[in-house]
Amino acid sequence: MTVYKKKLIVVSNRLPFVIQKDDLGNVIRKHSAGGLVTAVAPVVVENDGKWVGWPGPDYDFGEPLPESSVDDTSPTAGLKSSNVIPVALEPHLYQSYYNGCCNETFWPLFHSMPDKAVFSADYWKAYVEANELFARNTIKALENACDPDDPPLVWIHDYHLMLAAHAIRQYAANRQYKIKLGFFLHIPFPAWDLIRLFPWADEILQGMLACDLVGMHLQDYCINFIDCCSRGLGTRVDAKDMIVEHGGRYVRIAPLPIGIPYDRFRTLAVSAKRTIPEEKKVVLGVDRLDYTKGLPQRLKAFELLLAKHPEYIEKLEMLQIAVPSRTDVKEYQDLKEQMDQLVGCINGRFSTPTWSPIRYIYGTVSQQELAAFYRDAAVCFVTPLRDGMNLVAKEFVACQINDPPGVLIVSPFAGAGQNMLEALLCNPYELNETMETLHRALTMPEDERTLRMNYLRKREQSQDVDFWMKSFLRAIGRLDGEEAPV
Ligand code: ADP
Ligand code: G6P
Repeated sequence: MTVYKKKLIVVSNRLPFVIQKDDLGNVIRKHSAGGLVTAVAPVVVENDGKWVGWPGPDYDFGEPLPESSVDDTSPTAGLKSSNVIPVALEPHLYQSYYNGCCNETFWPLFHSMPDKAVFSADYWKAYVEANELFARNTIKALENACDPDDPPLVWIHDYHLMLAAHAIRQYAANRQYKIKLGFFLHIPFPAWDLIRLFPWADEILQGMLACDLVGMHLQDYCINFIDCCSRGLGTRVDAKDMIVEHGGRYVRIAPLPIGIPYDRFRTLAVSAKRTIPEEKKVVLGVDRLDYTKGLPQRLKAFELLLAKHPEYIEKLEMLQIAVPSRTDVKEYQDLKEQMDQLVGCINGRFSTPTWSPIRYIYGTVSQQELAAFYRDAAVCFVTPLRDGMNLVAKEFVACQINDPPGVLIVSPFAGAGQNMLEALLCNPYELNETMETLHRALTMPEDERTLRMNYLRKREQSQDVDFWMKSFLRAIGRLDGEEAPV
């Protein structure tokens, strides 16, 4: 990961840690869960890069950031506070920009769930304001970094900041600073039919086109984006080479599927203490508590399995670890209630005096513990209704060091389902199919498990987060010794 010797400024809504106060009132930093942070944090730490982002709602502006994390196995433990530029969001902005536009509008819309999306001019106004704030803070970081012989790379992440590049580009152009601007979207980019529902879609597209490179996980997402530019903005596009012409510049759109820090997870799996006893068979789910993850469907499929196959009673357990997420948003509160009820119902229906079918942890676990769960689970059950990529599927594979290994089930509606082809695929909208796939995984012969897992491991090891980072840098022409193809 040390390939990147130039200046790197990462900009994302969330910093890789959240600032909180402990019971004694001390300011502490806690690792933030989520795919973006897991993938990008090791890259910034390794490359001594800067990170511009929001430290969470408990941060008081001007307060010094703590130097180290509570969990020293987290990938952000090595991030120096001098390399962090905290962006403080006022409560009204936090509410309308983050809870509102990001999580009530873009999140459901981009995950093809328009019925859940709220369209509000106030949210949009706050989104514009917040993006300008992030841009101003990035410019601050740029002021110390701009050297005409060594222009920095500003790498903006995700749906929270689709407008930020525009202001940064203007600022740099006014001062004749040469910079490279890259954007990576960590969630799906949906079809034009969905994007056009958003009243300010043109501005979003133009904001992203202020970059030199726009990366997404899948070719399908890139095709959707290019189609939206052509239909929504009338821009000239080269769909074959994935180039969009905008404002006299050529913007490259590239499918760059993200990877995980494979070796890090493998090492954790080697050293992690056992938490699932050897004689126990566990089906594992690990997610943020999010309605895109298909959690109720997953529990119902497990319930159906117990009903149809009583041979699993007292022999099998489902362990679902769900990190609290976006708890101010109603859809997430409703989901929490639904999960509590479902777990209670299924446990009430099937429990015996010595066994309960579902163990449900509503909280975060450390990466060390996570690695042990991944290693010792019989099946990892990844059933999103829609997901940009899904890193949990990849982390599970990296931790599979037991012989024989476990089985991965993944939904084709997650990016991971498009390229982890040796996993068992199942459609989470179809309960019976999901249940049957789980049964198949639990009864799969050892040699088939080994064969499938060998292929999966090989791919994740070679296409890890380092590979992703290098692919992005190569595509934007910033990999040492290589020129941009555009
Ligand atoms: P998303 O980006 O939508 O959250 P991903 O599966 O891509 O989904 O990434 C989730 C990340 O968060 C993974 O790196 C995973 O290890 C981490 N994570 C998810 N649930 C937990 C949990 N309960 N405790 C700790 N980390 C978690
Ligand atoms: C997904 C998004 C990230 C986000 C993460 C956690 O991975 O792509 O941008 O950070 O979820 O969500 P949160 O709202 O807590 O930042």
